[in-house]
Amino acid sequence: MRTQVAIVGAGPAGLMLSHLLAQAGIASIVLESRTRQAIEETIRAGVLEQGTVDVMRELGLADRMEQIGERHAGIEFRFRSRGHRIPLRDLTNGKEVTIYAQHEVIKDLVAARLAQGGEIAFGVSGVQLHDVDSARPRVTFRRSPDGPEEEIACDFIAGCDGFHGPSRQSIPTSLRREYHKTFPMGWLGILVEAPPSSAELIYCNHDRGFALVSTRSPEVQRMYIQVDAADDIANWSDDRIWTELRTRLATDDGWAPIEGPIIQKSIVGMRSFVCSPMRFGRLFLAGDAAHIVPPTGAKGLNLAVSDARVLAAAIVEFYRQNKTDLLYRYSQICLRRVWKAERFSNAMTQMLHRFPEHTPFEREIQLAELDYVTSSPHGLATIAENYVGLPIEWNA
Ligand code: FAD
Ligand code: DHB
Repeated sequence: MRTQVAIVGAGPAGLMLSHLLAQAGIASIVLESRTRQAIEETIRAGVLEQGTVDVMRELGLADRMEQIGERHAGIEFRFRSRGHRIPLRDLTNGKEVTIYAQHEVIKDLVAARLAQGGEIAFGVSGVQLHDVDSARPRVTFRRSPDGPEEEIACDFIAGCDGFHGPSRQSIPTSLRREYHKTFPMGWLGILVEAPPSSAELIYCNHDRGFALVSTRSPEVQRMYIQVDAADDIANWSDDRIWTELRTRLATDDGWAPIEGPIIQKSIVGMRSFVCSPMRFGRLFLAGDAAHIVPPTGAKGLNLAVSDARVLAAAIVEFYRQNKTDLLYRYSQICLRRVWKAERFSNAMTQMLHRFPEHTPFEREIQLAELDYVTSSPHGLATIAENYVGLPIEWNA
């Protein structure tokens, strides 16, 4: 079979790309190794930047997000038992973030794509990329493990298959540089059946480690605490989790989280990763396939969407104007923004977590930094500008 763009992976990057291409009349086929149910149920990120929300609107996919999602005009940094609000909207000319779970975004994108007659093959196996450095790249795969091998001939391949997917490996190691950093901590995340403890997200630095209060709906909260990277979820009873949340989040004026039954809990590791370049021949990497950020800046999903926007624009320019300028500049345009998101995610992680190796001096420096960014108008503006999302700089 033949299509214009073969897309590997139905995460936010791949699905968003398929929609942006379809809007411009460009055909694609999405290959996804997991089932539709699995991708629609995996609990991940929750914070959408203004730019991500804008794309959902432009694509006519914002109805449920506008009903269920919550717009937040500020966030709180909490340290030394006191809260400090960062007024995002006031500091960014009206930009806000929207709290809307990643798996809800996935449900919206999948349902709309299938309703438009778009092709997403779920549960495929053995995906392999061929001739990516030629004008006729191909992807082979099987619809079921013992089914026949099928082939898609295409003009471009979008590698949107996450950190562990095969696409990145198609860039020869001699031509690709990878940057890695692993943090010594993980995040234990919970979903709780209880109303929101706070109207806005709380990022808290405490002597016992980081804590984050987020939300999902009027009935369900999302919370995280810093744990050791090697810790096992079996070590964390609900009681122990609540004790840590109460202790870390306590304020001088008696604030306490609203508790309820914990309906899901898991631990994720934290790392930074960048692959450069993000293009090889006719293969373009987008999202986690090319870069990972620690979750403290809430950037992973949003970077996947901004890559998809740049890639869609470049492919549209190719078909409409027969120009390759944006295609050649794809990696450079994306990486410029990616590195700034890496910088912000790294800075947020450094500022808000307890590091086992920190000396008392370094601990005081960390608290002074938090004091600075929450009290200086310039510090506040820097956090706000990055948190709501930096623009895509096309003329890099
Ligand atoms: P993905 O969402 O990973 O999508 C890639 C898709 O490719 C997957 O559906 C996968 O099944 C598919 N795939 C993989 N291999 C193949 C193959 N061989 N063939 C076909 N398909 C394949 N970010 C935040 O900002 N905040 C968070 O709290 C947060 N929590 C996270 C928790 C977890 C457990 C994980 C893994 C990530 C989290 N992230 C978070 C990061 C964020 O979810 C990702 O940055 C985002 O999903 C990236 O989107 P993507 O489309 O690039 O990749
Ligand atoms: C959520 C996740 C994040 O990584 C973050 O920085 C803030 C909120 C969330 O899942 O709600």
